[in-house]
Amino acid sequence: MQIESTNGSYRALDVQAIAIAVFKDEKADDVGFLKELDSVTGGVIKSVIDSEELKGKEAETVYLHLVGNGEIKAQRLLLVGVGERSEYTSAQASQMAGTAVRALRGKSVKSIAIVPRLEGNPEEIASVVVEGAFMSLFDPDKYRTEDKEEREISKLVVVMDGADETALKRGAERGRIIGESVNFTRDLANEPGAYMTPTNMSERAREVATEFGLSIDVLDEARMEQEGMGSLLSVSHGSEEPAKLIVLKYTPANASEGGDLLAFVGKGITFDSGGISLKPGDNMELMKYDMTGGATVMGAMRAIAQIKPSIPVLGVVPCSENLPSGKATKPGDVVRAMTGKTIEVINTDAEGRLILADAIAYARKLGATKIVDIATLTGAVSIALGDVNTAVIGTDQELIGEIVAAGKEAGEKFWQLPLDKEYSKQIKSDIADIKNVGGRKAGTITAAAFLKEFTDGVSWAHLDIAGTAWSDEAKPYRAKGPTGVAVRTFIRIVARAAAKHNGS
Ligand code: BES
Ligand code: ZN
Ligand code: ZN
Repeated sequence: MQIESTNGSYRALDVQAIAIAVFKDEKADDVGFLKELDSVTGGVIKSVIDSEELKGKEAETVYLHLVGNGEIKAQRLLLVGVGERSEYTSAQASQMAGTAVRALRGKSVKSIAIVPRLEGNPEEIASVVVEGAFMSLFDPDKYRTEDKEEREISKLVVVMDGADETALKRGAERGRIIGESVNFTRDLANEPGAYMTPTNMSERAREVATEFGLSIDVLDEARMEQEGMGSLLSVSHGSEEPAKLIVLKYTPANASEGGDLLAFVGKGITFDSGGISLKPGDNMELMKYDMTGGATVMGAMRAIAQIKPSIPVLGVVPCSENLPSGKATKPGDVVRAMTGKTIEVINTDAEGRLILADAIAYARKLGATKIVDIATLTGAVSIALGDVNTAVIGTDQELIGEIVAAGKEAGEKFWQLPLDKEYSKQIKSDIADIKNVGGRKAGTITAAAFLKEFTDGVSWAHLDIAGTAWSDEAKPYRAKGPTGVAVRTFIRIVARAAAKHNGS
């Protein structure tokens, strides 16, 4: 998809269709945008509004052919409701673009102009519009050979009348990088476990590192053994596929000594059967997406390598399968993590925290001073927050605030859960330092309390995306399946930290 932007009018654009945002209860006879659109389209806007076909509700669409019209070059018009004008932000504009592209691709339209009608920073607006357009084109039907969804759009133009041209251009390019990287993450998450093994995941990471210029190190099991990563290795014991620990690093051109090192750490369980504590069969196929945290880190690093912020960023992805076999870890076994802490494995299905424990410790060893980990960690988070908010928990309130604020910019919701020290009592073990499950109460929090044991006081926040990484239903702006949640937020966390670092 070729991406263009313009600060001129939509009227002369050489595209097949123009998509225009319409606010709730907006009228064509008010002075302003719709009035002008109405007059150049022969009164059709007023007609669809007066007939109550278009009320401007979010995701509502009206599709029109402009016959015998000399004033607009495009032949087709899509009006997209965006809800209340006062509540219209970049999140809604991004979804508006997605809704428009998905609706128009179904009409065999190949070139589209989008008029988001959002006021504000043109770079940011162009970025979110293009992000939304790219994200809307992802479909999970990779292995379908018939009736595949149409996804080829040749041209997309972002229209922002009077905006600064270079800012628009820069934003549109950033939007392309981010949108493609979110879809990269979704593609990994969507892959069946047979294709997305730890080895495959590390190969995909190598491709990204080579293509976009990141440094990469992949630890095999022998090196993990040397590092004393008994917790991570206890998860891969039951599998024929060896575990991998992927380390990606972005270093800015004029890197200064000292300063913070931000690390993203993502759970990469390429299939979670539960191990000896076997999961029930219903929906087990979905456990192919248990590596989404790792894929999110890889997608964010892929974008960061291209956006080139002024601060270094580390990405650490522990990858393993979790399968039962004669060699698998058993409930009751005690394992020793890299930090020396001993863990009683009560339930082999609480494996994510076991691999993250060593990955967090390794990120610290590599010099990380701020750690954000991300994982499809607990079913309990879906009970608490559903598929709307991602849970955020941690020890550094400022970092948590940054995550929530970056999420707002990206149109992604995060909700903080508490981490009082009382919760840590639930993971005390009779035989070892700690145990890997804390009972039925507050499952998402006790999982975080477990991870905290391996952060050694460093600034840290944990995101549980088990409820938000996969969507059971399609939205007008997005297919069902992997959502790519938090990739956009991660990129903005880095952008905000870089801006702070540069003193702006
Ligand atoms: N990968 C699962 C969590 C999960 C559940 C992700 C549903 C996505 C959808 C994780 O490894 C797990 O099995 N967690 C257990 C922990 C329990 C044994 C303490 C859970 O949530 O049931
Ligand atoms: Zn599990
Ligand atoms: Zn899991």
